[in-house]
This record gives sequence, C-alpha cells and structure tokens, in this order.
Amino acid sequence: MEEELLRLKSEALAKLASISQVGELEDFRVKYLGRKGLFTGLMRSLGTVSTEDRPRVGKLANDVKQEVESEFLIRQGSKEGSGQALQQKVVTDLSLPGRALPLGRLHPVTQIMEEVCAIFEGLGFEVAEGPDVEVDFYNFEALNIPKHHPARDMHDTFYVSDSVLLRTHTSPMQVRAMEKRQPPLRMIAPGKVYRCDSDITHTPMFHQVEGFLVDRKVSFADLKGILSIFIARIFDEHTSIRFRPSYFPFTEPSAEVDIACVMCGGKGCRVCKQTGWLEILGAGLIDPEVFKKIGYDPEEYSGFAFGLGIERIAMLKYGINDIRLYYENDLRFLSQF
Ligand code: DAH
Repeated sequence: MEEELLRLKSEALAKLASISQVGELEDFRVKYLGRKGLFTGLMRSLGTVSTEDRPRVGKLANDVKQEVESEFLIRQGSKEGSGQALQQKVVTDLSLPGRALPLGRLHPVTQIMEEVCAIFEGLGFEVAEGPDVEVDFYNFEALNIPKHHPARDMHDTFYVSDSVLLRTHTSPMQVRAMEKRQPPLRMIAPGKVYRCDSDITHTPMFHQVEGFLVDRKVSFADLKGILSIFIARIFDEHTSIRFRPSYFPFTEPSAEVDIACVMCGGKGCRVCKQTGWLEILGAGLIDPEVFKKIGYDPEEYSGFAFGLGIERIAMLKYGINDIRLYYENDLRFLSQF
C-alpha cells in the first residue's frame, strides 16, 4: 500500500508537470483527485491495512494527497483566466513604461499654515502649540471675557463640561505663554479651533494663528509694521490694507484688518459685497486687564496681539468660495494645490 501510494504520487506529479493545456487540468483533477479518482480509491482500501500499520499508512496517504493537491492548485492558479498554453515562456518587456505611483501632497490648509508660520518665524517669532481641549479660564476668563459677558456670544462653544471646552480661538496661548515666561515675548501659536457653526464660510473645526509680542514700549505702530510685512508677503507687496476700529475684550484699542478685495482689486464686487475690502484678521494692543490677570505690570509692559484664520486666507488666495471644500476630501479638488 505504501509503495503504491508513492508510485501514484510520482506518476501524478510527472503528469501534472507535463500538462500544457488548461483543459487538461480538469481531466487530471477528475482522474487523480476527484471523488472517484485514484487517490480516493486507494484511501478506501486503507481498511485492508493491519490495525498496527493503519495510523502510519493513513498519515502517508493524507500527506501524499495533499502534496498533489497543492501542486495542482499552484498549476491551476498560475494559469487560471489566461487561457493560454501552460508551457508558454514568460517574457519580461523592460521597455514598458512603469506604473506611476500616485504622489500625495500637503493639504492646502497645511500649505498656507506652513507659509504663514514661515513668514513670522522670519520676523523672529517663535512657534508655540497648546491644547485643543481647553479650560474656561484660558479660553475666556483670563482674556477678559467673564461668564455672562456678551462677547461669549461671538463664540459658539462646544462644551465638554461646565469648565472644559474645545478652544474657540488660539488666543488662550497668549495667556499660557505669558504665565510661564517673562517679556520680551514674540510668539505665534498655530492650531485647530472649534465652533458650533457650519455654512459656506464656517466649518466646526478650522485653523487659526495667534500672534503676540510683549515688551517695553510696544506701540500700535509696531503692530501695523509687522502686519503690513506679513500681508505683503502672504498676498503680494502691492496689496492695500486698512485698519478699521473694532472691539475684542482682550485688546484695547482693537482693530480689524482689511485687504483690498483680491477678486476686483478694490472696485467692488459680490465677494467684497461692493465695499472693495475683505476682512482678514483681528488685532489690537493687549488689554491691561489681561496683563493684570497673569501678573505683568501694565505700566511697565505693553504688547500687541493678532489672530487670523488660515482657511479664510487660503480661500482668498485661491479664490475659493465654499470653505467646506477643504474638508470633503475630494481628491479632484485637493490635488489642484
Ligand atoms: N481670537 C479672535 C477670534 O477668534 C481673533 C483675535 C482678534 C485675536 C484680535 C487676537 C486679537 O489676538 O488681538 O475671533
């Protein structure tokens, strides 16, 4: 029985190796491996083997059958679907063009974020990052926005608990930095911020860069100088800008900064609502109340701060009218940048 098994195995393997047409594979399977095939037949006669030898012979029978089966599957797999002659030589055509690997690229928001940071780093600002999950104190209280202050209305806040929230702006980083260090400070704080808001100009998560400088004798002129350089670099040097009086609880005086509309150059169009101007950031001199909260002497130090939205700058730079496009992950859109 053992001899017969081994003989059948070499016969089957030799036969398999000689097969050259796909059609012959099926004949092989029926003859050797099928339900009425030669291997099945042999296994049926295991009953005639002595009880003593049966385990050993049984194992051999199984091993042999498995080996032939796996050889068969390999032959079948390598030719399945090709319908070609089995013995055909595989030819490698080295002149065929390679398959292009799709190249990833940085998200447009990341690109602008990096550009903004690089401009400020060039002006001597250091970069600091802080937590997205913030406490009320840093996000509001220390920035002169006490509970029940109407300015809290400007921020549609996602609360985690009564005193923990997703930061609504990057301004808390002013407080965190000032708390740890003494002036002079010259920092930017880029990062994600969150507000419960969604339409063509708002997404629940967006990016801001906060900037601030604290030292002796810092004036509004310093703020204006730094922001003028920034705007000239991020848009172009001929971009007109204007400072418009505004209000933020943590700056006094406060301003919003506009640039001449990038669509119409200031003539007035739908994008700038016929005003010729587009708002791009908020800024001001740091309110003495903020200094008092962290223990700086407002008689000795002064400083400026500003906050800008990255998506907004990217929209203006690229002429995009719907902010949600940034977050739909449509490669047809993203791969243009
Ligand atoms: N934190 C403000 C906001 O998100 C933006 C801002 C305005 C930041 C004025 C400033 C600033 O530092 O001085 O709406």
